[in-house]
Amino acid sequence: MTRPFFSKERISHFELFGRKADNAIGQPKARLREGYAVDIQDIASRYTLDSATEFLFGQNVNSLSAGLPYPYTVPEASSGSHPANEFARAFGKAQHEAAYRFRFGLEWPLLEPFRHRTQDSMDIVRAFLDPILTEALDKKREAANTGLPQDKELKDEDTLLDYLVRHTDDHTLLRDEILNIMIAGRDTTATTITFAVYMLAKHPKALAKLRAEILSKVGSSRSPTFEDLREMKYLRAVINGKLTAHTVLFDFDPCANRNAATLSCGTIQLPYHSQGGLASVKDWREPYYVPPNTMVQYSVWMMHRRTDLWGPDALEFDPDRFLDARLAKYLTPNPFIFLPFNAGPRICLGQQFAYHESSFFLVRLLQAFADIELAPDSQPPESRAPAEWAGAPGRKGREAIQPKAHLTLYAQDGIWIKMQEDASNSA
Ligand code: HEM
Repeated sequence: MTRPFFSKERISHFELFGRKADNAIGQPKARLREGYAVDIQDIASRYTLDSATEFLFGQNVNSLSAGLPYPYTVPEASSGSHPANEFARAFGKAQHEAAYRFRFGLEWPLLEPFRHRTQDSMDIVRAFLDPILTEALDKKREAANTGLPQDKELKDEDTLLDYLVRHTDDHTLLRDEILNIMIAGRDTTATTITFAVYMLAKHPKALAKLRAEILSKVGSSRSPTFEDLREMKYLRAVINGKLTAHTVLFDFDPCANRNAATLSCGTIQLPYHSQGGLASVKDWREPYYVPPNTMVQYSVWMMHRRTDLWGPDALEFDPDRFLDARLAKYLTPNPFIFLPFNAGPRICLGQQFAYHESSFFLVRLLQAFADIELAPDSQPPESRAPAEWAGAPGRKGREAIQPKAHLTLYAQDGIWIKMQEDASNSA
């Protein structure tokens, strides 16, 4: 039902991104001028929540209007109980609780015999969604009562909800579908923006190169167009570099085909030797039989960090690996080593939407700000990388914050940064 909605024209919702991004960037400007650091995770989460709710059902929760939080060093300034903050908190908490259940597999209901642990959070989320769904269904009934023929086709001005109500009257199905896409689309893109900014703050050369591309292709003030973004190869490489270094979703669990008759030995190829142990790239094609109904988990997080797949510098954040000779050497012959959006029939429906939404934000951000740096003094102490991580092998030894995961990757207590406005563009 939802697939037609993710066509090229709709995923380039540039006007919507424009309005939200300008607001999302104006607010940190004001806060930085007050002399305080800002949490880029908080800003990106509000931008993506407002964009997703407007995109999906035409009403946004307006979380950008709730005001930005102050650093922990200003305890007297709380972010308060604005309804948008309550919705965002409940939405995040419900995901934490759902992720907790994964640990117990199908047995999780045994741990919650009397009350679902998601109950309180979901009450808040539903109190927001239910009136919107009821209104949409009422409108559909009114239209049907006019006796005029109702067109089921997707129209340009339709939100996803407008489109879905023409296909079903099932309130629960509609709510689940809308929520599913909000979960799929909101935190994933917020994480992409957050960790891209984190990596740019830690890699000033990449930041300077990206900014140069933005200024030469789009200039310092106008909004980017679909064509601009298509031409900005380094911007796409930065986002891909982020998606490799800090993948958003870690483990995928495809189920082997239920029908043994259609599961031939070669259909599932795993990077493991039949005798066990990691296989080298050349052994990938070796058939490996997986019995029907088997849950097969693979870790994209680990895959994106393997030196045998990505080369000796696999752990470096280096966007150029998507543009220089390393592209032809590693990725082109083995495209499935890069799987942030999964592949095949389960590939992310919102992939292009996510690229556009995050690209748009990064362009507007770097038009406004010439420099970004981490603000360790404003980062709550318990969320900084522990001292014992320093010098640890892999990326761990290089982290300044603590990456965590519920359904998606996030930074505990956000990522606090300071940014320098572009002096020539400081309106
Ligand atoms: C960088 C951001 C994003 C990442 C990394 C991402 C990643 C993924 C992944 C890995 C899957 C497959 C999950 C599985 O195999 O079970 C998926 C599915 C999906 N994603 Fe995304 N996603 C992103 C953004 C979005 C956005 C913005 C939307 C919608 C506006 C969206 C909508 C969906 C939907 C509807 C599915 C389910 C597809 C299906 O099962 O047919 N995603 N996404």
